[in-house]
Amino acid sequence: MNPMKLHIKSFGCQMNKLDTALVTAALKDARFNLTESVKEADVVLINTCSVRDHAEQRVISHLGHLKHIKESKPDLIVGVIGCMAQRLGDKLLEHEAVNIVCGPTQIPQIADLITEVIEQNKKELAITEQIRKPAPQPDSDALEEFESAYGIEAKGIPGQAFVRVMRGCNKFCTYCIVPYVRGPEVSRPPQAIIDQIKRLADDGIKQVTLLGQAVNSYEYKAAEKTYSLADILAKAAEIQDIEWIKFVTNYPTEKYFDEILQVMADSPKVCPYLHIPAQSGSDKILKAMNRRYTADWYLSLLDKARAIVPEIAIAGDLIVGFPGETDQDFQQTVELVKKARYRNCFVFKYSPRPGTTADKRLQNTVPLQVKQARNIELLAVQEKISEELNREFLGKTVKVLIEGPSKKPHLNAAENQNNPQLVARTATDYIVVFNAPQSLAGQFTKVKITKTTPLTLFAELTASQE
Ligand code: SAH
Ligand code: SF4
Ligand code: F3S
Repeated sequence: MNPMKLHIKSFGCQMNKLDTALVTAALKDARFNLTESVKEADVVLINTCSVRDHAEQRVISHLGHLKHIKESKPDLIVGVIGCMAQRLGDKLLEHEAVNIVCGPTQIPQIADLITEVIEQNKKELAITEQIRKPAPQPDSDALEEFESAYGIEAKGIPGQAFVRVMRGCNKFCTYCIVPYVRGPEVSRPPQAIIDQIKRLADDGIKQVTLLGQAVNSYEYKAAEKTYSLADILAKAAEIQDIEWIKFVTNYPTEKYFDEILQVMADSPKVCPYLHIPAQSGSDKILKAMNRRYTADWYLSLLDKARAIVPEIAIAGDLIVGFPGETDQDFQQTVELVKKARYRNCFVFKYSPRPGTTADKRLQNTVPLQVKQARNIELLAVQEKISEELNREFLGKTVKVLIEGPSKKPHLNAAENQNNPQLVARTATDYIVVFNAPQSLAGQFTKVKITKTTPLTLFAELTASQE
């Protein structure tokens, strides 16, 4: 059989991008070649997200586009994988453009599903019937094997890789669909994670980002010892060629917090960056969200993090317009953001997700205009803080890991020469833009910050790399 051409696109979070990389690597092994062009492709896979309605709408409109392409190319195989596949199952399969619907737990089957569509000319559905039940052993073994075998980023950022330490989520924040599409929490065996990072290091990976929905909940009970994320970080830091280790996303909890922060303080490889969403500054709303802390307690946790790791950069997520959120509740979120002094935070407008507790409750929904106004107000508060924090970098020299060419050229970057604009990040996850040869992608370098804006630091390569 001639190699088939695969076009694959991610619409979701880092977990989703990791799955895309694993599927890509598996299909490359099964003699698929990648193509950037949908028109050239024999198979198009879209890896989907259900976290907000907007994410799903983007997929639906993309499917409309694919339906149009299929009119002149009826043999094109379209597969929908990921969280939306799990959520909607056969409803998605009914879409005219769709041949395969495959949930996150079933991705090891993807090559077989494609073969079956070709050979039997019928639609294929592979999702988990009872998503909150622990996956049957053969399925979780298959996932673990799939994950370990295809650990190398297929078309990711040079020098960087994601490594999942756990699957699923048990937190049940009342607004969130993730526990219903990713299933229960399962922590991967420490040795499997460490072996995988070693293989990645052998392949030239310098930065790993450990992934979990609530990554600090990682807990693996072995006969002799219970392993926490702190143990994984410490072991990963022993791997020689790995220089930077990041981990996302953290759930605000006392458990293992000090240990994790202590490893960060002790190991120069564990980046001083903590993404730890608050979601709201109102205790009433936090309770309704089933976040198990108060705003004051959360802020005291940030204080503790800063006491243990003084150079730490903290990032957060916030939801505005959760049902029942009054102006007063929202003002408490504004206050929290002012006190937290995040290096950045993501603000989301509450999006009701079918089947979640918040959606079933459906009382006192906040009108869209109010959500929008609160979104803008909160972003403005954060922008001022980011601007102040970023300004402190002016004139300083920082170490960055270069990702590659900047997707949207920044007009106000240092006017320069013949080199393209590259995007890089600091250990604290600040975005830095500067002109340098593209061949440097995947390398560490030192740059001097020449200009700052709320979102971006602009820099130039320094002569001395000492
Ligand atoms: N597991 C991670 C990320 C979950 S999704 C965590 O707990 O932090 C990423 C972010 O999307 C969440 O932090 C939350 O701020 C936001 N989010 C989740 N569900 C949402 C919903 N229904 N509407 C709006 N934002 C939502
Ligand atoms: Fe969703 Fe909460 Fe789990 Fe994050 S911790 S994935 S917000 S349920
Ligand atoms: Fe990620 Fe979206 Fe699924 S945030 S886990 S792709 S619902």
